[in-house]
Amino acid sequence: MPIRVENKTISIETKNTLYQMKIDDTGILRHLWYGQKTNTDMGYLLDYPDVGFSGNPYDAGENRRYSLDTIPQEYSSYGNGDYRITALSVLNPDGSQAVDLRYINHKIYKGKYKIPGLPAVYADDDEADTLEIYLIDKCTNVQVILKYGVIDKWDIITRSAVICNHSYDLIKIKNASSFCLDLPHGEWEWIHFHGRHNEERIVERTGIIHGIQESSSIRGASSHQQNPSAILCEKNCDEDHGGCIGAALMYSGSFKTRIERDQLNQTRMIMGINNEQFEWTLNHGEKFYTPEVILSYSSNGFSKLSQNFHNIIRNNVCRGTYKLAERPVLINNWEATYFDFNSDKLYEIAKTASQLGIDMLVMDDGWFGNRDNDMSGLGDWTVNENKLRGSLAELTNKITKLGMKFGIWFEPEMVSEDSALYRTHPEWVIKIPGRNPVRSRYQLVLDMTRKDVREYLYKSISNVLNSADISYVKWDMNRSICDWYSAGLTAERMGEIQHRYVLGLYELLERLTTDFPDVLFEGCSGGGGRFDAGMLYYCLQIWCSDDTDAYERTKIQYGTSFFYPISAVGSHVSAVPNHQTGRITPLDTRAAVAMAGSFGYELDLNSLTEKEKAEVKEQIKEFKKNRKLIHNGTYYRLSDPINDEYAAWEFVSDDKTEMLVYGVVFRTKPNSLRCVLKLRGLLQDAEYRIEGDDRIYTGRALMEGGILLPATSGDYCTIKLHITVNDKK
Ligand code: DGJ
Repeated sequence: MPIRVENKTISIETKNTLYQMKIDDTGILRHLWYGQKTNTDMGYLLDYPDVGFSGNPYDAGENRRYSLDTIPQEYSSYGNGDYRITALSVLNPDGSQAVDLRYINHKIYKGKYKIPGLPAVYADDDEADTLEIYLIDKCTNVQVILKYGVIDKWDIITRSAVICNHSYDLIKIKNASSFCLDLPHGEWEWIHFHGRHNEERIVERTGIIHGIQESSSIRGASSHQQNPSAILCEKNCDEDHGGCIGAALMYSGSFKTRIERDQLNQTRMIMGINNEQFEWTLNHGEKFYTPEVILSYSSNGFSKLSQNFHNIIRNNVCRGTYKLAERPVLINNWEATYFDFNSDKLYEIAKTASQLGIDMLVMDDGWFGNRDNDMSGLGDWTVNENKLRGSLAELTNKITKLGMKFGIWFEPEMVSEDSALYRTHPEWVIKIPGRNPVRSRYQLVLDMTRKDVREYLYKSISNVLNSADISYVKWDMNRSICDWYSAGLTAERMGEIQHRYVLGLYELLERLTTDFPDVLFEGCSGGGGRFDAGMLYYCLQIWCSDDTDAYERTKIQYGTSFFYPISAVGSHVSAVPNHQTGRITPLDTRAAVAMAGSFGYELDLNSLTEKEKAEVKEQIKEFKKNRKLIHNGTYYRLSDPINDEYAAWEFVSDDKTEMLVYGVVFRTKPNSLRCVLKLRGLLQDAEYRIEGDDRIYTGRALMEGGILLPATSGDYCTIKLHITVNDKK
């Protein structure tokens, strides 16, 4: 059992890491350590001075060196003398805002805990263990259960908290974070992922200043602008060296990550639901469940950390028939036709696609209601047979006869004012009475907290899915949300609306993915505006960005790769000049970049020359030959495309006998040395061959010396290497 309790010290061990805490004499649950395995009680590292203006709990007696403002804790709370950022804040019936949590008992069991209504890492009983620690505020009887899930083989610990109101009055939760992590020693930096529509998850690494720094979303979705994930790393940490801790929140709504460096240079990290507009009423006997956070520690830099997250998300977060199966290569008509299509046009695209080896046609926005532009139709999920020139079943029959599967686009959470749904149910939108709503892309948001709205969506979506042979759904969401108000909630409970929206969304997704287990769901929010581990519980892949420019995508996919596995990254070859940037990149470069994901095309294949079509056919063959290695192999970043002159990445087979290296040299420089690329993850003493090269290299040579990248001519030249162990010895 990886969870041990000895002399009030609780140790959680995974394959390479140790997480440790201690119940101290006053019942406070102290955090001792998260790092490499040490086989030691790490409490010896904690020794605190008497710090002025850091008060002492009453039961510390005359011990002025004992302050909750300084000692590391597992779940800090507001109102008991901890003046730092805290994980929990509760408004009591008497108007006071204090909660003081002390240990009562704990439970350890095989298997992984579940969270009602929320996505969570799942595991077989023999691959996971759970620790539950019960804490109580003796004055109010508010209880907190801290849950720790341990997936030992992937070096993963999950955390979440349950707030239980055992008092006889109602309380209001002002903040309930998913976890608190205190790092008493060390000089830490942090990495977060910021951006905007068309440029998501750009890596930013900075030092941690004294005071509070934050990365968050208040947009109702996890957002393009910040991602609910962050890394704390040692100053010297790079891809292969140094200690780093990753945290990914399994939540798709407004979130907040805060990091504070305190007066003693200690670092505290807190992550969870954004508490800004949040207030949750908890009646006697009720419980509140926080979303789960996935944690991992690596003492060998970012590559290992990312691999841990890729493993857990691919194997223990993603679900469904396609989880580890080969994902279909798809052609999406959005950038080929936008709203201007009919069955004939789609069929012509599909016919060419099938000849080139593409597995699935995805019909994007515009097939339903009255929707020929983005000003109308959302909410009316009935097929526009005039536009399609026939029924959906007629179209899907034609497509499946080509030997292809068929996929379809929805944007369930949205409604256009110009729609039958809005005319019938104007009360179903999120809008504050007496105020005009804020429009975005001309659309309004449905109130997902309402059961009738969810029921309508379930029925209309399942009617479409039952009406034809549909293998894939793209679930889009194209605006941020404000005007938070629901007629279904009382004024006292309006602070619950954002979280209830996410719970409603998850309930609908759970129902649909359960009832249509063979349908592959792809998430989307104007590209990657809701790219998080919560959505990946329902959708196996997420459209990574609306920016399909191969050069820009190297940066976006680089940032995405820190937490999210390659199979989760929806990525397509599109036309040039690129529709977002106007940039022209070679077709093989566009394919090399798109292959680092769930691969597809998004252009009018019939506008390609015969030569280009032949090239596409070869690309598809190449991807299909390699897709197991690409999606299930070990992924390494070989460059930092934000700062380097090239982007490169590598997929390594489990037994390290085969590798694929892909990338892009951004610009050719005259009279310059060729770039050297150092490979990773090879067997040091094994001999390797590179396809098309007669030489033999040792793993050590390829990793220490590297290889010379091909001499380039022009811009955005592809890097492509297939390396295998030399079996001709
Ligand atoms: C935004 C998505 O990211 C695009 O791929 C496309 O589906 C459009 N929405 C359709 O409106």
